[in-house]
Amino acid sequence: MTEILDLPGGVPRGPGGTGLAHGDAEGAGAPLPDLRMRPWVPTDTTELLAAFGDPAIRHYSKTVVDTAADASQFVRIRAQAWSERTGASWAITSDRGTVLGHVGIHVVDRALDSAIIGYWLLPRARGHGVAARAVRAGTTFAFRQLMLHRIELAHAVENAASCRVAERAGYLYEGTLRDAMRYTGERWSTEHLHARLVTDIDMATDA
Ligand SMILES: CC(C)(COP(=O)(O)OP(=O)(O)OC[C@H]1O[C@@H](n2cnc3c(N)ncnc32)[C@H](O)[C@@H]1OP(=O)(O)O)[C@@H](O)C(=O)NCCC(=O)NCCS
Repeated sequence: MTEILDLPGGVPRGPGGTGLAHGDAEGAGAPLPDLRMRPWVPTDTTELLAAFGDPAIRHYSKTVVDTAADASQFVRIRAQAWSERTGASWAITSDRGTVLGHVGIHVVDRALDSAIIGYWLLPRARGHGVAARAVRAGTTFAFRQLMLHRIELAHAVENAASCRVAERAGYLYEGTLRDAMRYTGERWSTEHLHARLVTDIDMATDA
C-alpha cells in the first residue's frame, strides 16, 4: 500500500503536478480514480473564491479569501514559504485538473523542525477519503524534503470528519487544547491535538 510523492529534487511540480500513487485500499469506493497535488498558482482565483464561499471551509479558517486580491495573497504567501523552505502547500486536483481542495504544511519552528498541517476540501470532493490521502502524501513530503521531525494537526473537537482524517493519516491523538484556535468571527475553538513524528511507525500504511 503506497502513497508516493514523486517530487524530483524536492520541488513541487507545476500544473499537472504531483502524482499520488493510487489503487490501494484507502478511499475504497472513491469515484476519484486519481489525484494530483500541485502548487497553488495565480490563475486559481476562481477556485479559491469558490472554496472560501463554502460555509464549512470558512467556519474552520483563520483567514478567508473574499476578493481576487485575497486570492493573490493566498498564493503569494505560499510561494514565498516554499522558496524559503518554511512551508509547502498544494492544490489537490483530480487527474483532469479539477481543484478538489488544499493541503499545506506550515513550518513553525526550525529549531525543533516542527510544523503544522492544515487542509480542506471543496464540497464536491468530500466523503471519499481524499483528505486523508492528501495529508499522508504531504506528510511524507514534509518528512523527506523539509526534514521535519514533528508535524502537528489540530481540529475543532466537534469536527469528527477531520478527527478521522487525522487518524487515517497516522496522526496520533495527544490531547485536548482549550481555546487553542481562533477562527473567523473571533470564535475561539477547543481543539484536538494530533501529531506525527518522523520516527513513528507509519500507521497509515502499516496498519
Ligand atoms: C474535514 C474534511 C477535510 C474531511 O475530508 P474528506 O476526505 O471528505 O473526509 P471523509 O468524508 O472521507 O471522512 C473521513 C472519515 O470521517 C468520517 N466522518 C465523516 N463525517 C463524520 C461525522 N460527522 N461523524 C463521524 N465520522 C465522520 C467518515 O466516515 C470517514 O471515515 P473513514 O475514514 O473511517 O471512512 C472535509 O469535510 C472538509 O474540508 N470540511 C470543511 C473544512 C474542514 O473541516 N477542514 C479541516 C479543518 S481541521
